[in-house]
Amino acid sequence: MKKTKKRKKTRTARKSKKMKKMKKVKKMKKVMKAKKKMKRVMKVKKKALKPIDNATEHFAGLVDQQLKRVERMKKAEGWIDYGKLKPIIIGIIGGDGIGPYITAEAQRVLELLLKDEVTRGKVEFRVIEGLTIEKRSAVMKPIPDDVLKEIKMCHVTLKGPTTTPKKGDPWPNIESANVAVRKELDLFANVRPVRVPSQGLDWMFFRENTEGAYALGPYGVEVTGDLAIDFTAVTKQGCERIIRLAFEYAKKNAINRVTAVTKANVIKTTDGLFLKSFYKIAKEYPSVNADDWFIDIMTAKLVDLKRRTEFKVMVLPNLYGDILTDEAAEFQGGVGTAGSANIGKRYAMFEAIHGSAPRMVKEGRAQYADPSSVIRAGAMLLNHIGYQELGRKLERALDICGQYEKKLVMTGRSTGSTGRDFCDYILQTMADSDLEKRWIEYQQAS
Ligand code: IPM
Ligand code: MG
Repeated sequence: MKKTKKRKKTRTARKSKKMKKMKKVKKMKKVMKAKKKMKRVMKVKKKALKPIDNATEHFAGLVDQQLKRVERMKKAEGWIDYGKLKPIIIGIIGGDGIGPYITAEAQRVLELLLKDEVTRGKVEFRVIEGLTIEKRSAVMKPIPDDVLKEIKMCHVTLKGPTTTPKKGDPWPNIESANVAVRKELDLFANVRPVRVPSQGLDWMFFRENTEGAYALGPYGVEVTGDLAIDFTAVTKQGCERIIRLAFEYAKKNAINRVTAVTKANVIKTTDGLFLKSFYKIAKEYPSVNADDWFIDIMTAKLVDLKRRTEFKVMVLPNLYGDILTDEAAEFQGGVGTAGSANIGKRYAMFEAIHGSAPRMVKEGRAQYADPSSVIRAGAMLLNHIGYQELGRKLERALDICGQYEKKLVMTGRSTGSTGRDFCDYILQTMADSDLEKRWIEYQQAS
C-alpha cells in the first residue's frame, strides 16, 4: 500500500516536471516566433524607408548645388565689352548630323563679312571639333573636357545642331549638349526673334535658358519602380536678369509692351516667383506696359490672326520658351529659318533652332540641308559683337532670298537647291548695292 502511494507520487512529480518543461518550450517558441515576426516587419519597414532616404539624400544634394549657383550668380561680373577686346575670338562648332554642312556655309559668310577685321587682328576664327554624339557618348559627358576648354577660350561661338539622346535611343542617355553649354557658360538669355512683315508679326522672345524644368532635367529620381520625380528650380536672380533684359530691349527699341508667359495659376511656386519678379521689375520701366498670359491660352493666341500682331516682346521660363518659339518660328517658314542667341554676361553662343537631322545624312541628303537658320544665327552674332551694319545686311539678304524673291528654294532633297548654292545666292544678294532699297520695296509690296 505504502509502495503504491510512493510510486504514484513520483509519477505525478515527473508528470508535472514534464509539463513545466513543455510549457517553457512553448513559451520560448512563442517568443522566437514574435522575434521572427518583428524582424520581418523591421525588414519590410527598412526596405520601404530606403527609397525615401535615398530620394531625400539626392534632393539635399540638388538643393546644395542650386544654392551654390545662386551664390555664383550674386558674384557674377558685369557685361563683357567687345569693343575693348582684340582679338574677339569666334569659335565655330560643327556639331552632329547636318551640323558640319550648314555651319561650314555660315562660316563662309562670316569670314567674308569680317575679312578686314581678321586682317587687322580684331577678329579671329577657330574651328572646334569634337562636340559630336560619338565623342560625347565615348566619354559619357554632354561636353568632352577638351572641347569645353576650347569653347571657353572663345568669346562667342556659332554652333551647329547637336543630337540630344532620349531614353531608348541607341546613344547613352546623356544630357543635351545645348543645355549643358548654356548652363556651363551661364548663357541665361535665349533670344529668339520671329518676323513675318507681310503678316504684321514682329516678335522677340526672351526665353530663360538656365533654370526651370531644364535646370535639373537630368537629375530626377526614380524613387521606386512605380514612382518617378523630376525637379524644377528657379531663382530670384535668374528671373530678374532675364526679365530685366526683356524690358531693356523694349526700352531701347521704343517698344511699349512686354508680356510674361507662365502657368502661375497651377505651377504656383516656381512660375509664381517668375511672375512676381516680372511685375517687380516692370515698375522700373513705367513707359513700358506689362501684362501676363498663361502658356495654354498664349499658344492659342499665336494662331489668332487678330490678336497675335499685338504681342511684341515676350519673356518666359525655359520650357514654355522652348515650345512657344517653335510654334512662332513656324509662321516664319519653320524652325529651319529661325536663329537663336544664347547670351550671358561673359560668353555668348549662337545656333540654329532645329535638330541635327541624322536621317538626311543617312539618306545622303546632307548637302540639301537648309543653312538659313544657322546663317541667321550668324547675323545675330555679328549684331551682338558690335557689327550691326553687317548683321543687318545679312538679315536683309536672308529675308529676300528666303521669304520674298526665292530664286532658289530649299526642299531638303535633290528637288531643291543645295545648301552651298543657297549660300552663294545669299552672298550674291548681299553684294548688291541696292540691297536696302530692294528689301524696302519687298516689304511695302507684301
Ligand atoms: C532648342 C532645342 C533644345 C532645347 C534641345 C535640342 C535640347 O529644342 O534649342 O530649343 O530644348 O532647348
Ligand atoms: Mg526647342
